[in-house]
Amino acid sequence: LFGHGGYVLIVFLLVTVFMMRLSREYHFNTHTIYMVSLPVLIAMALQAAMILLADGDPKDVGYLFPAGMIGMLSVLLLEIRLALLLVTSGCLLLGLQTNLDYQFVIVGLVGGYTAVAALATIRKRWELFLASILIGVANCAIILITGYILNPGSVPLAHAMLGFFGGVSSFLVLAILPIFERFGIITDIQLLEMTGLQHPLLRQIEEQAPGTWQHTLNVTKLAEAAATEIGVNYLMVRAGCYYHDVGKVKKPEYFTENQNTAEDKARHDSLKPIMSVRVIMNHVKEGVEMARQQKLPERIIDFIVQHHGTSVIRYFYNKALEAQERGEIKEEVRIEDYRYPGVKPQTIEAAIVMLADAVEATATAKLSARTVREEDIRKVVHVTVLDKFNDGQFDECNLTLRDLNQIRTTFVEVLKSRFHTRIDYPKRPAMANAPREKRPEKTIEPGSSSRTNVETQKTEVS
Ligand SMILES: [Fe+2]
Ligand SMILES: [Fe+2]
Repeated sequence: LFGHGGYVLIVFLLVTVFMMRLSREYHFNTHTIYMVSLPVLIAMALQAAMILLADGDPKDVGYLFPAGMIGMLSVLLLEIRLALLLVTSGCLLLGLQTNLDYQFVIVGLVGGYTAVAALATIRKRWELFLASILIGVANCAIILITGYILNPGSVPLAHAMLGFFGGVSSFLVLAILPIFERFGIITDIQLLEMTGLQHPLLRQIEEQAPGTWQHTLNVTKLAEAAATEIGVNYLMVRAGCYYHDVGKVKKPEYFTENQNTAEDKARHDSLKPIMSVRVIMNHVKEGVEMARQQKLPERIIDFIVQHHGTSVIRYFYNKALEAQERGEIKEEVRIEDYRYPGVKPQTIEAAIVMLADAVEATATAKLSARTVREEDIRKVVHVTVLDKFNDGQFDECNLTLRDLNQIRTTFVEVLKSRFHTRIDYPKRPAMANAPREKRPEKTIEPGSSSRTNVETQKTEVS
């Protein structure tokens, strides 16, 4: 018992230390512990059941060990590095179940690693079938090879067949996966399915609100780059971006990005600011309803709810204050009435989407129609990010200042490539002394929410 306990303890410590080092995303919480232990526990339980059915003799059934399943589940639910770690630790534990017969461990490792490699680029559910067959073939091959090395005279065909079935049975993952998904765990496959451009909701944005769709694609580009840079789930961020403004399809003509005609541009002129704000704010509520109807996972719906947090729609708030000054509005203008109801971003992913959304809208409003200098881009990003930060929008998530800085730098790089053709590069040194035409400077001051700056206020609308 002491030996077995020590063995399990070493494997457990190995997993713990690796996990703690891998990424702060995997800091221990109950959710992570379930995620990490489940694939291994399922495989170990299946193995124990098979040994029991074989009257306690692990000799043959050891080849049936579902290492491929550990590999598949952990790639799908976690990520590649953890998957390799879990396959390895699962196979080490299998060694204990099979009296330290290392041939089983080798077969398990080969099958498990094949699963991880095969799933690294998986895009569709049915591809799991192909991966399972590949695992079966790999198992079969390694059993024949090790059998040959140990005993060149005989061909262990029966064992090879067992290994093949053990590998192919990994497709059972297809049946297990929806159980995880039902409990709110989103797999990469699910995210890829949702971000396929043929999804009805995305088609709807593209067809009914082309301006919003373009905005969405721009936001996605910014947010994905930032997510990759700070090491959070970029697929989740992509899905969040794609759906964040889906509610705008109900009244696309009320949003600047879709206003092409003079009639559209004058949409809000006949409305009181407080009415305009209600129409604008409604895109969050409508979005949530549409997403629920389409049964999008709650974690994606969170992006719709949180992408404006409790930000103020400054453009209309200021418009209301001006109208009040002119005596056109008698009642009190309260800033709370011009704030989105929230929730503030609860995750780093949601914070990234909020920032990308605001930066995209500001950049489009301020930088689209003219040549820009890198400095202009920097200012737009800096001011927008600072504005959200100072407004306390990131108080409820784990975003650090370091993250914020990295996000800012990434945004500047992405915007530089977007506005590349319009970037006004400084002249070469030889030309530096030549008299330069003076260009009217457009500057953006921090706290540009001052009432006279209509352009920045526009950003709050999108
Ligand atoms: Fe929005
Ligand atoms: Fe947006």
